[in-house]
Amino acid sequence: MTDLVLDAPAQSAPPEADDGVWLECIACGEQFAPFDAVRYTCDDCDGLLEARYADHPTFDDFSGEGVWRYAAALPFAEDEIGADADGGAESGGAWYSLPEGHTPLHEVPRLREEVGVNRLRVKHEGMNPTGSFKDRGMTVGVRVARELGVGRLACASTGNTSAALAAYGARAGMETLVLLPAGKVAAGKVAQASLHGARILEVDGNFDDCLDIVQELATDGEAYLLNSLNPFRLEGQKTIGFEILERFHADYGTYPDRVVLPVGNAGNTAALFKAFRELVAAGELTPDQVPALTGVQAEGAAPMVEAIEDGADEVRRWLDVETRATAIRIGNPVNAPKALPGIRETGGTAVAVSDDEITDAQRALAGEGVGVEPASAASVAGLRKLRDAGEIAADEDVVCLTTGHLLKDPDAAFAAGDDPEPVANSTEAVLDLLE
Ligand code: F0G
Repeated sequence: MTDLVLDAPAQSAPPEADDGVWLECIACGEQFAPFDAVRYTCDDCDGLLEARYADHPTFDDFSGEGVWRYAAALPFAEDEIGADADGGAESGGAWYSLPEGHTPLHEVPRLREEVGVNRLRVKHEGMNPTGSFKDRGMTVGVRVARELGVGRLACASTGNTSAALAAYGARAGMETLVLLPAGKVAAGKVAQASLHGARILEVDGNFDDCLDIVQELATDGEAYLLNSLNPFRLEGQKTIGFEILERFHADYGTYPDRVVLPVGNAGNTAALFKAFRELVAAGELTPDQVPALTGVQAEGAAPMVEAIEDGADEVRRWLDVETRATAIRIGNPVNAPKALPGIRETGGTAVAVSDDEITDAQRALAGEGVGVEPASAASVAGLRKLRDAGEIAADEDVVCLTTGHLLKDPDAAFAAGDDPEPVANSTEAVLDLLE
């Protein structure tokens, strides 16, 4: 099914390889030592950077649980950088891990039956310590930040990144700054950033405007940027792909045909593609076993879908974006140059869904006991839509990624669920109502 053009991570040793790890520009191929300087994009052409490795581990090389189970596929081992006296392998990674990853791959039998696919599992990233997949990237990113000796950590955020940054920054004893689009971030996320002690600035603009500002601050050396432009964060998020494939294979002796996921900045899409490519390079997976990456956006914020539908090489920045799924209210997906090839080369696609379709999917997941925030439910809404259109076949094995927990956005949950009913203080009155 897939037509994977394997742009194999470089096999030649780079000039300044540090323990077989380096950063490489995906646009011009320029290589950089990973930890010698703060760097988010290519010095030469400003292209996106990606961590590259001389060796690629197989599943047999992994041990332990969670993100650090995959240390052999990360830029440093558990007992390497940053593992100083107050943290590290021996003391349980005290200052950089909460711990994260090892999230459930739920069975959802009623939903599977309704959608009509061979197998359907839901990878619930809302079960991470701060309630979203962002924790996977932060445990790696914050550790690199300490290695680089930076002062203040910063991000722009639709909410979840800010919650994770605040928590991991607090854990590491570092100062954190978050820029949020005013009035457009769900209550649970602002509450987290606030209590974990981030300095919160609410910008009169959207997420993309916030990111523009944080990038300028980072360029000026005012802060270390921990948005998904940061290549080390995506290394942590790559472990979602490893976990899905390992678990699916353990359960069924096969790999899923497709992974469906919500798309905002397209960091996860890029990270999963990288996980799959590295497993192919390791000989763990054949190119035709690579799952088709299928991205879902809200209709009011769907620049990636537009680019896939138009066959465009570049994504057009949408200036006005709106959706109930505020986590993916994003008009300028910065990881598009990594993610568009991910969708295309794995034989995937992208689809836009309405806010009502998102809420319906949120209810359907809740009906299976899986509580997610609206953006997460976009994956299931997209699966339903593509299945109805015949673009996903009945014999496929599918994994939907749900990225954030229900409690992140209590207002959306109340709006999607049934209202509480007032009742008088007596058993009789309760029984009357239950009649
Ligand atoms: N789902 C949730 C719950 C998110 O919070 C995000 C991104 C996405 C999906 C999209 O993931 O960017 O990798 O395509 N939230 C960011 C934030 C932007 O600031 O919390 P992506």
